[in-house]
Amino acid sequence: MTSYEGTNFKKSFPVQGKSFENAGHISSKVKALLQKMRLSNEIVRRASVVTYEAEINICSYAERGKILLRVTPKFLIIDAIDEGQGIPDIELAMKEGYSTATDKIRQMGFGAGMGLANIKNFSDTFRIISEVGKGTHLKMIIRIN
Ligand SMILES: Nc1ncnc2c1ncn2[C@@H]1O[C@H](COP(=O)(O)OP(=O)(O)O)[C@@H](O)[C@H]1O
Ligand SMILES: [Mg+2]
Repeated sequence: MTSYEGTNFKKSFPVQGKSFENAGHISSKVKALLQKMRLSNEIVRRASVVTYEAEINICSYAERGKILLRVTPKFLIIDAIDEGQGIPDIELAMKEGYSTATDKIRQMGFGAGMGLANIKNFSDTFRIISEVGKGTHLKMIIRIN
């Protein structure tokens, strides 16, 4: 049994960009890890959604990226950092239903334009920093208790 109380866990996961070959693998790993740490179902579900959406966006829009998971006694902190095209208009990108997904991405079943909106809804704190032509950094914080 893994206990998270009083401990600080940190792990970085590389995410392949511009590829759906492994899409969803990292969020599955993160979910399994958090379950092993005996976090509540609600926290695991919220963390899984934000990690999944951030991962799919790296697979869809970035050249490469990573997801950094940190677990402290009070917070889950998830950073999704990529090198890629960046987001020219963050306010627009955040709108439900807005998507620049290509036909290829839609054929994979992605591109409904709900990813960033869901990430915001399922996080207690959400920050997004992006530079066109450089990349994007999402920071999601979920309070554990
Ligand atoms: N990591 C990223 N890098 C570049 N653009 C992104 C990234 N994440 C999101 N975007 C842009 O924001 C839009 C909205 O993202 P999202 O809400 O996840 O919807 P979807 O991925 O279904 O299009 C995307 O269509 C894309 O234009
Ligand atoms: Mg998305």
